[in-house]
Formats: sequence, structure tokens, C-alpha cells
Amino acid sequence: MRHQPLKIEAPELRLDPERLTKPFSWADVFPVERPVEVEIGIGKGRFLLDAAEKRPEINHLGVEWANKYLRFAESRAQRRGLDNVRFVRVDAREIMPAMPDRSVDTFYVFYPDPWPKKRHHKRRFLREDMATELARVLVDGGKLHVATDHADYWEALQPVFDERPEFERQPSFGGPGFPLAEGEPLTHFEIKYAVEERDRHRASWIRRAR
Ligand SMILES: C[S@@+](CC[C@H](N)C(=O)[O-])C[C@H]1O[C@@H](n2cnc3c(N)ncnc32)[C@H](O)[C@@H]1O
Repeated sequence: MRHQPLKIEAPELRLDPERLTKPFSWADVFPVERPVEVEIGIGKGRFLLDAAEKRPEINHLGVEWANKYLRFAESRAQRRGLDNVRFVRVDAREIMPAMPDRSVDTFYVFYPDPWPKKRHHKRRFLREDMATELARVLVDGGKLHVATDHADYWEALQPVFDERPEFERQPSFGGPGFPLAEGEPLTHFEIKYAVEERDRHRASWIRRAR
């Protein structure tokens, strides 16, 4: 007898990028209203899926433009039966301006592509233009958590947030409400860089009240 293909009863987890690059509401993304957190550049989704599993009371959106990573993350999310996670395949720089004002509790940006050549720096995510968007979209008291291994990117990104009145640097990375325990590796790239003994820099900022 031939095997029937296994039917996975899971909601469609991937959203249409066309819908999310024009102004949208979070009700268009998540069927159940809950606080929203967004991870930019999820890779295979290790962090996002752990966070979503640990905190079912929060909606998590994963933004990633590499389809092979996204497919991996989606199938893991389906296998774990997570209903509070959605994915979109889009350039993060294009989805940010479409997000509603004061609507996201937390952004996570871990090991973003460093674009080391000077002429490519404008492609980096953590720059002035995206800082303006992050300040607009975060709720008062919302958080931005960042990690990078790249010394030049690290030097360039800190003043972008330290010098803006909308953001206040936290004394340490993570803090109350952070989904992982201290010392737990954040992502696949963090594990890889730890093995390679590369520097790993981390910081968190809070969105000051308007
Ligand atoms: C170095 S990897 C880090 C992945 C993951 N955050 C981790 O730490 O394991 C950077 C990821 O960001 C994605 N990425 C880079 N630029 C992006 C952009 N503008 N929009 C969406 N995803 C992007 C890449 O495809 C890649 O998966």
C-alpha cells in the first residue's frame, strides 16, 4: 500500500509581502490580538521560535528575505504547532515604513548582515533612517535588542541610538521580559561565532515616552 502524504493541520504562516509593504494593521497579520514583537533577519528562526513557544501571549513576526531559511523556520513553527508566529519574505527596509505608529513592543536585530564595504554601508539595517522608523513604530517603553560580531558595524550603530533623544541605552543587554535566560545563546549565528571565538557585542535600548 502506498503511503498517504502526511497532512499537517496548520494555518498559513507566511504573509503576502505586497500586503505588508503598504500601510497595514496588525489585525491583518495576526488573527488574535496580542502585543507584537518583530525580529528582523531571522535566519533559520531559532530565536523567534523559542520566544514564540515560551510566550504564547505575544504575537511574533519574523522578517527574512532568504527563502531557504524562511522555509526551514516555517516548517519548524508548523511542527511545533505555534499559532502566535507569522513570517514575511521581504526586505526589512521596505516593511518598516508600512508598520503602524506606536504598535510594536519589541524589535530584535541579531547579527544583521554587516555590509563591510563602505559603498554598501547604506544597505545596513541599523542606520539613521531605520532608527527613525523604529522610534515611530515602537510603543513608549518598547525595546530594541541588538547583537553583532562586526566591530565596524558595532562602532557605527551605537551612536545612531545613543545620540537620539527617543532612545535610552539600557545598562545591560536583555533585561525584564527578555525571552531567553542569561547565558543562553541567542541564535544560530551566535553559536557559530562563539565556536569561532569571534567578538560578540550586544546592546538594548528603550523607546522613551513621547
Ligand atoms: C548573518 S544572518 C543572521 C541570522 C540570524 N539573525 C542569526 O543570528 O542566526 C543575517 C540574516 O538577515 C537576513 N537579511 C539580511 N538583510 C535583510 C533584509 N534587508 N531584509 C530581510 N532579511 C535580511 C539574511 O538573509 C540572513 O538570514
